Amino acid sequence: MLWIFRYFLVCVSVTNIVIAEDQCRIEINIRGMALKGFAFERMTVAAPHICDILCEREIICQSYNFNRKEKICELNNRTKDARPENFRSDPAWFYIRRLNGRAPLGSIPELPARSCQEITAGEGKDTPSNNYWLDPSGNGKAFLVYCDMNLEG
Ligand SMILES: *[C@@H]1O[C@H](CO)[C@@H](O)[C@H](O)[C@H]1NC(C)=O
Repeated sequence: MLWIFRYFLVCVSVTNIVIAEDQCRIEINIRGMALKGFAFERMTVAAPHICDILCEREIICQSYNFNRKEKICELNNRTKDARPENFRSDPAWFYIRRLNGRAPLGSIPELPARSCQEITAGEGKDTPSNNYWLDPSGNGKAFLVYCDMNLEG
C-alpha cells in the first residue's frame, strides 16, 4: 500500500514537467525484457504512448512490448505473470502490463486461458474459484470450466 502511494506521488510530482509521461512510465516499464510468443498484433508507431491507446482498444490486450529503436509495438494476449517462461531478456525492448481496463484472463470467451493454473499465475493467488473460459488445446474452441482454486496443481 505504501509502495502504491509513493508511486502515485512520484507520478504526480513529475506531471508538472513536460516529460511527465515518460517519467511515470519508467516506474512501470520493465526495460530490456519482452514477452515472446503472444503478440496478436504488431505495428510501427510514432511514440510509445500510442501503444497504450492501441492496447486499450483491444479487449484481449493484456500487455505490450515496445522496441525503442524501431518503435515497434507488439500487443500481447498474455501478461508476463501468466507466462513467466516466455518473459525473456532482449535489450531493444521494454515490456509493460496494460494499465486500464484489462480483462482478467479467462473472464471472457475471447480471452480463454489454457488452464486453471494459468489463471492463478496471471491473476494472483487470491483469484476466487469460479467458472472461467478455457481453451486447453488452444484450438480456438473456448468453453466454461469450473476452476477450484483451492486445489493444488
Ligand atoms: C494469442 O496470441 C497468439 C500469438 O499470436 C495466438 O497464437 C493465440 O491464438 C492467441 N490466443 C488468444 C486466446 O487470442
